[in-house]
This record gives sequence, structure tokens and C-alpha cells, in this order.
Amino acid sequence: MTDYENGDGESPDIQRRALLKSIGATAAATASAGLLHGCSEKSSRQDTHNLGFREIPHGLDFKHHLPDGYSADLLLRWGDPLDAFAGAFSPDTLDAREQARRFGYNNDFLAFMPLDPDAAPGEGHRHSVSNNSTRGLLCVNHEYTQPHLMFSGYTEESSNRGTSHAHIAVEQQACGHSVVEIEQTTEGWQAVLGSPYNRRISLTTQIALVGEAAGDTRLQTSEDPSGKKVFGTVGNCAGGKTPWGTVLIAEEGFGGAFQGDPDNVADEVEARNHHAFGIEAENRNWGDYDRRFDITIEPNEPNRFGWMVEFDPYDPKSTPRKLTALGRFEHEGFTVVSKPNAPVVAYGGDDDEHQFVYRFVSKENYLPRNNIHNRDLLTEGTLYAGQFREGGSGTWLPLIFGQGPLTPQNGFRNQADVLIDCRRAAKLMGATPMDRPEDVETNPVNDCTYVMLTKNRKRKPGQENAANPRARNTTGHVLEIVPPGRNGQRDHTSDTFRWNTFLLGGNPNAEDPAERGAYGQQPGNLSPHGWFANPDNVAFDSSGNMWIATDGCEDFGFHDGLWAMATEGELRAAPKHFFGCPEGAEICGPEFTPDGKTLFVAVQHPADVDNSTYDNPLHRWPDNDPDLPPRPSVLAIRRNDGATIGS
Ligand code: FEO
Ligand code: CA
Ligand code: CA
Repeated sequence: MTDYENGDGESPDIQRRALLKSIGATAAATASAGLLHGCSEKSSRQDTHNLGFREIPHGLDFKHHLPDGYSADLLLRWGDPLDAFAGAFSPDTLDAREQARRFGYNNDFLAFMPLDPDAAPGEGHRHSVSNNSTRGLLCVNHEYTQPHLMFSGYTEESSNRGTSHAHIAVEQQACGHSVVEIEQTTEGWQAVLGSPYNRRISLTTQIALVGEAAGDTRLQTSEDPSGKKVFGTVGNCAGGKTPWGTVLIAEEGFGGAFQGDPDNVADEVEARNHHAFGIEAENRNWGDYDRRFDITIEPNEPNRFGWMVEFDPYDPKSTPRKLTALGRFEHEGFTVVSKPNAPVVAYGGDDDEHQFVYRFVSKENYLPRNNIHNRDLLTEGTLYAGQFREGGSGTWLPLIFGQGPLTPQNGFRNQADVLIDCRRAAKLMGATPMDRPEDVETNPVNDCTYVMLTKNRKRKPGQENAANPRARNTTGHVLEIVPPGRNGQRDHTSDTFRWNTFLLGGNPNAEDPAERGAYGQQPGNLSPHGWFANPDNVAFDSSGNMWIATDGCEDFGFHDGLWAMATEGELRAAPKHFFGCPEGAEICGPEFTPDGKTLFVAVQHPADVDNSTYDNPLHRWPDNDPDLPPRPSVLAIRRNDGATIGS
């Protein structure tokens, strides 16, 4: 741990304020959860009868669960072929070449990118305006690999430093990203095998570094003296879509891919940097197979990870780009808000304890009819970190070399240093340390932005702040950012904003008041199954309802899943339980088709509990075949009567 990565190094001012507020903070935040009027000026804009499904109960078993009247197609599983000629899947004989033609492991973020029936591969500008909801490209992140659940012969412990080189080669093809053409047929949703769009992005895919840090000496390695070319992407958690038809994929927990003791790296700046991202001698043994993952051999290689990656799924030959303008940290994702002839705004979070919420504002304007111009919008602009103050005011703090403390006196040589060491820059500027920011997304109906904060057990008593009011936050919470302006016309480029606590996760009847959840303003609106913990991913339907995916409810005795709720009106912040995962899984990437009639969900790491292995798994969802392990899979959920999901 370094002085700047955890809350121990908070500025004296923040510590003092937190201390002053610590006694009353939880009560104050509870009272403000589910604010009467919400983000809108009027509380009644939204149809409160919209969420008409019959809620499912909290539970924990080896199946997935949906409300009555809904069905799920099993769309894609780890190992499913993407080309028409691949044979049956067998983890026992799987090699790297074969994995490169198959769907990857631990599916996370999902983006549905419609296909215009009249356009061809490479014509992204035509596809990107299509609302086709029965045929499209499903773009899927594969966050990480778990050899003990993928292959025979390992325990979780033995695989950590003892995975065979042949299996590491498979792992490096099983993480990254998949693009799969899918279509809705009379048999349900299916992958189109052999589609020219189908593509795997893995740790051997060439990716360009662009933006102000590209080419910097700290990004140069023996393999790439230019500092502008990287092989692959890893830790691909959540992401985003752009209105110009590209997909954003985040690099989150990249530190775990690197081995070596940072204290054995000669350069002190890099040693501190590597510590901050959890690089340790005890990490996975990838560096024994592929020397660039050993920081004692290639100390700059980790600086080439921890970025947002943008790519064009409509052009299968396109080179993905790492966008250094969006900063380097443990990116959960970035989501874009665009208004015609104005700068494009993107919001994102750094998913680690006491890390920050970020906003990017492009230098150039978004021009709806000029995607060649738009494609460079995320390469140049200003990155900001969020400061959330008492009383619900907030400021976006610019991270610009030479401004404020971001100077050579504090170890910044140039803007590249500010972007590479973004966490340190944000902290010095006075950004508010948060409870693990996950998805940050804007509701298209009320135009407010919502921040999922999953938990923070490392927040000590006395380190609370107005926006993170609970010490040892085990259940997480959701904040609402309200940019100035009216619905649909909010100014996301404004450097000031208002914020509310939207809800506090946890059981509203928990014995310990510090763990007690707080939801909509009328307690009777919440069933015993409506509460959840650990909000992670989020999606909005076309009515502005929020759909929260969780990661951690098993700590509270029931499955992770999806909860849906209004964001306005009398049922604001009153969740209803829609989907439950099989045990050991978290749920990621909720994504609707444009017509709202299909909801895709990614079930990640099923059967991932203590002592569950390939050889002796807790269960074998979804196949329940004694010859197959549990497999991370994507489901396509529809209403049996074909109507809009949730209505
Ligand atoms: Fe990969 Fe932040 O969850
Ligand atoms: Ca996540
Ligand atoms: Ca997660």
C-alpha cells in the first residue's frame, strides 16, 4: 500500500470534515435517500405503473430465476464456437489456437450494436443509426480467467503460481472481448456462426495507444520502443457505447496479470505506481510464460494497461485504440452523453476503495452526421475528478498538467504523467474518495447521472464523507448527479453539479443501523425481496427505469441478480427483484435491445465458491452435463407474450 491509494493519506481537511460528520452522517444520508422530487423538477413525470412484473424471491440455488411470464435463451457460453467449422467444446483438449475461435471466459459488459440490413461490414456509420432489435452484434467483455474452474488438476491456490504454460496460453485467448453476430429466430436468439463480423480481441491483438500520453517514455518497452503499440487488453470489466457506432471497453484489474515485487523495480516512481495497482511477487505466474508480464523484466508494461479501449465492431479489421485521454486507473467503464453540436461528455469510475469518479469533456463538438470527425472526440479533451461536498453540491476538478498541484514539484513531468498517475493527480486536486465506483451512467429520460458504489470495507470510522456516509460500507449505495438545467437539456459540461443519495444498499430492517438500507420514501413500497446489496452495473430502459446488477449479495444469504426501479415519482428508488443468478455467480452487463423487448445479461463466474473446482464444482450451470464444467454464459431474456420487458 502506498500513501496515496488508500484513505489513510486523505488530506487533513477531508479527515477533519469526515470526523466532524461521522456521528450524524449515516442518519443524514438515510434521510436523504430517495429524495421526494428526485432529479426532475416534477415528481410525477414517470408512469409509476411501468414495472408490472411479478417479483421473484430472494433465494440461493444452482439455477437462474426469472419472473413468471419470462423466458431466457441460453445465447453464448464459454467455449461456444464463433465460426461455422469448429467442433464440439472440450476443456480437456482446448489449446490457444482453438480458444481464439471460441467465446471467451467470464463474460462481463454487453453492448448490443444493431445491424442495418442494407449495410455491409465496415459501414458503421449506417449501422450505428439503426434500431434493428432482431439482428445485431453482441459485444462482450471477458474480464478474467480462473484456471481452477476451467481445467482439470488445479485448486485455486495451486493454479495461482502453478498454471501450466499451455493453459496460460489458453487464458490469454480466453480474456479480452468477443464480437458475435446474433439474431432472433423463431427458436429464440442465436449466434450466427461464421459471420464476417465475428471477432475475438485477446492478449495477442495489436492495439494502438492514442492521445497525449501515447509515445511517452513511460509507455515504451523493449518490444515497443515507440510506446504506441500494445499487444492486447486485460481485466475487461464494463464499458460503454458511443453514438458514432464504436464500443468502449474498460481495463480494470490489470495488476493481477503482472508478477514481480515492485520494490525490485529501480525507478521509484514506477515502484510506487505498481504497488498502487496490486502488482506483487505472489500474483499469477503469467510472467514465467510471457516475460512482459514480469515487471522486473519489463517495468513499463503495466503502464500500457489500465486504459479505456475504443473499437469499431462494424469493421472486423479495425485496430482498437487505448484512449489515454480518459486516464489510467482500474476502469469500471465509461459511458457517453452526447448532444448535437456540443462537446461530448463521458463518465466513469475507478473501481477500488477510496478511488474517484471521473468525467471527460471533449475538446471538439459532437457532429451527428460526421462520424469520421466524431471518432477522434475521445482522444482530446479534459479529464476531471469529482468532488462531492456537504449539502449536495459538487465540482469537477480538471486534471491538467501545470494547474494547481499538478506540477514538477509533485513529480509530474508533463500531461502524460498526469494521465498515467491519474489517481495521484485526482487525490492531490482534492477529489472525494469513494466506496468503489462501478458503473456511472446517465438516464436518457431525466438526463441525470447515477453512480454505483459497490462497497468499501476499508473505510474506517472517521473517514466518512457526505457522499460516502458509512464506515466499513459492506452494502454499497447509489448517488445521483444532477447537472444544471432541465430534463433533457442538462448541461453535462458544467463544472458544478448537485448530487443526492439515491439509495443505500442493504436490508432496511438490519439490526445494525450502520448496515441498514434506505430506499424510496414510502417503506410500504418495498417487498421483503426488494432490497439488495453491492450495486455494480446499471442500465436504463426507455421509460427511465433503472436496472441494477449486483455483485456480493451472497454475503447476505441470497443470489446476486437484477433489481428494477423507477427513478422518479412515488415509486422512485423502490426496487423490485427481477432476476437471480445461480450460486457463485455475479451478474453483469444488463443491456436492452432498442425496442426494449430483449434484455441480455451476463452470468459471470457461476459456481465460484470456496473449494469449487473443475474436478469438483459446486454445480455445472448452465449445461448440467457431467462432462462439462460450470460455464460463464450470456442469456437473452424475453417476455413470453413478446411485450416490453418490465412493463
Ligand atoms: Fe470488474 Fe468493477 O467489477
Ligand atoms: Ca463490474
Ligand atoms: Ca464486479
